[in-house]
Amino acid sequence: LRIAIASSECAPFAKTGGLADVAAALAKALWARGHDVRLFVPYYKRIDASGLTTVEGLKPFDMEFPARTYRAETRKAPMPLSAGGGSNEGPLQVEFINIPDLFGREEFYTDDEDEPVRWAAFSRGVLEACQRSGWAPDIIHVNDWHTGLLPLFLRTRYGWDTLFQGTRTLLSIHNLGYQGAFKASAIEAVGLGDARQSFHQERLEKGVINFLETGILHASWLSTVSDTYAREIQTQEHGMGLDGLLSRRSDHLVGIVNGVDYEEWSPDVDPDIPAKFGPDDLAGKRVCRDKLLEELNLAPNPRGPVIGIVSRMTGQKGFDLLPDILPVLLRSADVRLIVLGSGEETYERYFQWLRDALPQKVGVYFGYKNELSHRIEAGSDLFLMPSRYEPCGLNQMYSLRYGTIPVVRATGGLADTVQRWDPETREGTGFVFYEFSSTALHDTLRHALEVWQDRDAWAKMQQTGMRQDFSWKAQVTRYEDLYSAILAEF
Ligand code: ADP
Ligand code: GLC
Repeated sequence: LRIAIASSECAPFAKTGGLADVAAALAKALWARGHDVRLFVPYYKRIDASGLTTVEGLKPFDMEFPARTYRAETRKAPMPLSAGGGSNEGPLQVEFINIPDLFGREEFYTDDEDEPVRWAAFSRGVLEACQRSGWAPDIIHVNDWHTGLLPLFLRTRYGWDTLFQGTRTLLSIHNLGYQGAFKASAIEAVGLGDARQSFHQERLEKGVINFLETGILHASWLSTVSDTYAREIQTQEHGMGLDGLLSRRSDHLVGIVNGVDYEEWSPDVDPDIPAKFGPDDLAGKRVCRDKLLEELNLAPNPRGPVIGIVSRMTGQKGFDLLPDILPVLLRSADVRLIVLGSGEETYERYFQWLRDALPQKVGVYFGYKNELSHRIEAGSDLFLMPSRYEPCGLNQMYSLRYGTIPVVRATGGLADTVQRWDPETREGTGFVFYEFSSTALHDTLRHALEVWQDRDAWAKMQQTGMRQDFSWKAQVTRYEDLYSAILAEF
């Protein structure tokens, strides 16, 4: 199939969260299966330009918007660690839509007034790049609100072009918490003034438009990143105002759990960790653990487990549960806590306070640091993800691979990928709690500390987790089946 994937993030070039990993790995997996894949991302200022080349034969082009015209061009670079496959020779090329006046800024996402125009222009840039190279995609797979307008652009502005007559769209929802809501005047700004009736009318009456919602209305099909989340978003509790619309489209909504790119995330090949290891020999993990404690200047050799956190610091991730329980737990048990992340000030300030209170036991790094995230996965014993909601979550799956037992709340993809440890049957891969409360998390952490004492149980859990297979090999066929079903339907 000819598949275009449009995403605001793509690892390793531009990443703030899981979307980057997923867009890159899915594109690679489809490419390895021999599909004709083009992966489009914006060319941000922070992307290293060395190694990028201008796409041959494709001249810079102009895109007109009501307020002004933007000049764009496409550049490309090979995706690291991707081999050819099927009829494809060589690595997948990532295509960067370069619109300097809109994306040559410090941040990927901004509060600037032209934010809606930035993302509308990216969506149009993808369509233009296809059109100008005479390449007719069977499927355009868009992701989250940033590319939410693309299906509507395809129906309106680009609908006249026979090149796109057979093109269908899939919108993947990675996170309903970000919807791209703007003042209704953005409709004119993005050049869709004559398509007002295509926006959700009730919302428009309130003076607002919403990119994600517009995508949900106009994409041929919808998917999200786990089965449980696909069900949850159709409920009022998790639907974030879009549950009604999503339920109405439930016959065109499917959940597919994300895969893991084990070329990037596996302790037997990971170049960022100090010692390699695998399920049959965990000696290297002890080295990783010692070095990690050293790297963060923590007291060595605890009798209890090292707990890791790598996360965006937002309300979604459930850190509100921690203040009630962490100080007491950390003081009473010989454990260590290592935190890597950045985000909202309240959470950063809390972790800073905790570190200052217990400098021997708590290590914190604020910022984004990919190699450290690998070392935390490798050197921790427990990995904490008490999420309020979690569409899929990748770190729990990475943890399993690194013999690091996840402690998760049973929501979204966490519920679908971690099996609760059952002390009776001695089966399971992690510690799971249900109610979003400090008490529930506290009881679960206490239980984890008990099981820690039972070294056989711990080893069994580690090994079962390390042998789970969440690779894209299996998940990619679910997308292939979905794409084919979409094309067969219309
Ligand atoms: P989300 O997409 O909601 O942030 P996921 O669990 O799907 O959650 O993916 C998060 C990804 O981002 C993981 O690959 C994780 O390692 C990475 N990550 C998050 N914060 C940081 C950070 N501060 N430094 C390095 N990597 C990070
Ligand atoms: C989102 C979600 C996360 C998911 C990721 C990739 O950012 O918060 O749960 O794993 O997208 O799909």
